[in-house]
Amino acid sequence: MASCLKIVLYSILSIIVVGAIAGSLTWAILASRDDPPDPPELIDLDWWEGTVIYQIYPRSFKDSDGDGIGDLKGITSELQHFVETGVGAIWMSPIFTSPMVDFGYDISNFYEIHYEYGTMADFEELVEKAHELGIKVILDLIPNHASTESEYFKRSEDMEPGYEDFFVWSDPRPDPENSTNRLVPSNWISQFGGSVWEWSEKRQQYYLHQFAIEQADLNFRQEVVKQEMLNIMRFWLEKGADGYRIDAIPHLFETPPNSDGIYPDEPLSGNCFLNPDQPGYTTQIHVRDLIELYDVFFEWREYVDNLQQQNSWETKVLFAEAYANITMTMLYYGDEAGRIGAHFPFNFDFITSLSARSNARDFVYVIQRWLTYMPHGHVANWVLGNHDNNRLPSRFRTDMVDGMNSLNLMLPGVAVTYQGEEIGMRDGFVSWEDTQDVNAINQGNEDNYLEFSRDPARTPYHWDSSTSAGFSTNISTWLPVANDYLVINLAAQKLAPRSHYKVYQSLTKLRQEPTLTHGNYHIEALTENTLILVRYLVTHDTYSLVFNVGNQTDTVNLSRVEYLSGSLDVYTSSVHSNRVAGDTLDLDEVTLQAGEALVLKSAPT
Ligand code: GLC
Ligand code: MG
Repeated sequence: MASCLKIVLYSILSIIVVGAIAGSLTWAILASRDDPPDPPELIDLDWWEGTVIYQIYPRSFKDSDGDGIGDLKGITSELQHFVETGVGAIWMSPIFTSPMVDFGYDISNFYEIHYEYGTMADFEELVEKAHELGIKVILDLIPNHASTESEYFKRSEDMEPGYEDFFVWSDPRPDPENSTNRLVPSNWISQFGGSVWEWSEKRQQYYLHQFAIEQADLNFRQEVVKQEMLNIMRFWLEKGADGYRIDAIPHLFETPPNSDGIYPDEPLSGNCFLNPDQPGYTTQIHVRDLIELYDVFFEWREYVDNLQQQNSWETKVLFAEAYANITMTMLYYGDEAGRIGAHFPFNFDFITSLSARSNARDFVYVIQRWLTYMPHGHVANWVLGNHDNNRLPSRFRTDMVDGMNSLNLMLPGVAVTYQGEEIGMRDGFVSWEDTQDVNAINQGNEDNYLEFSRDPARTPYHWDSSTSAGFSTNISTWLPVANDYLVINLAAQKLAPRSHYKVYQSLTKLRQEPTLTHGNYHIEALTENTLILVRYLVTHDTYSLVFNVGNQTDTVNLSRVEYLSGSLDVYTSSVHSNRVAGDTLDLDEVTLQAGEALVLKSAPT
């Protein structure tokens, strides 16, 4: 009886299976004969998932009141520009009350707008106008430290109840040879040079600062501190901010002292070119990437997601600024227990792993690394530069500007642009006398300060060829305007038939295509110096980027590249290319000048 039933069941099953196979075969034959394949169903992306984020360094973007310092009203006056450029979100470096030792990364009041940048009303107006134009506004959250001029620090230094351990305080390390000697608690070195420990005469203890002396590290082992950071987060989200870029997050925790109150020393790195005051002299195992920090990050995400849900807000995003190895970087996305953290950690690979010396294989390898290690279901991102690093043409070459922007804008995921990259701005020259950056002042001298200075990447934006490049009506600006502004400026590039800006604009437009929002990718090194990135999606046109990253002419054969079929038409090309939009390429032999980049359109695969 049982076996009889089995036979019946098997027969039914095989009819279904055979039927299904026959059915799909018929479908395949029919489909291949005349009908084009069904277009794939495209799931709508959330606002941030395929967007272009533009980093504004507020001090240097646009000055509305002629004091030589950029401000919020200046940004508001240029919002339309982002719409034209194809930018979906702006991230502003810190705009909160600050003594400006580290230009806003040392906050003295987290709930106020810094007076040089404007008022709370100016901020509200900025957000309102931006939102009207469909532009999201992301703020910079600085949880790791607060200014020593903040109320938090003053109260903590005064041992006010509730604030005693708001920061990381320590007694001196006892000197066994001389009990009156005051030793620093450990050999830890600040990111800006010198000990992380600073003596407070008032409290007769050391406090810890991983950055400047005026940026005291908050103590995230304290519930009150954690709670206060949540309050700060909520405050600006309720004011309409669309999320945060979270600063210096790997430094949130340090190894605690042992039961005797003694902090462990870092091992020495063995780098004999550095002196004991310089970061890099030690190997940082006690001051960065501590696993506890991820718990806090996951809590932030939960908190923000909950707020979002309760208020029926659109997605509020968290992006992590984490210079870390690939494992610790990817952990910001989430862990194996299913906890989620950042919408993404910034991908700094174009800054830290690639340079003018890299060849096409290096590019492919580094790009694949991110896409390979990124946990499933998450969104990638690409960053070409920021206010902490030399500008792109200095790290790569000026002839690579369009190719790099194209790569950034054509890779799957979010593209991040630092102000000026869209017009190929170069590092400005800032003399030692004019130097403002605390890192350069701390670690450098008249001869070597440029190795340390972040000022060259922070000079004012080049709007046009008028006074101070149209940044300010004042001829004197907080950092000098770079002297190439007459040649490299937005107004000129809008007028020119071909320009970096126009290439950039054509690519942000291309990003609207389903092939770019939803398509797959293929990337390979065709030769030592030329790479190809293909973006393809069934039934939609294929777009590819061919980019010679080398400093010499190179010839490639595109006829055997997967996913390319039919003729290849130029969609856009780097400004120094001889090819223009509409040209058709001969696949077998494409010769590219140094740095030349071609964006090509071809038939669906
Ligand atoms: C981040 C910022 C940098 C700042 C540092 C300390 O790395 O990008 O500008 O100096 O954190 O806040
Ligand atoms: Mg101003």
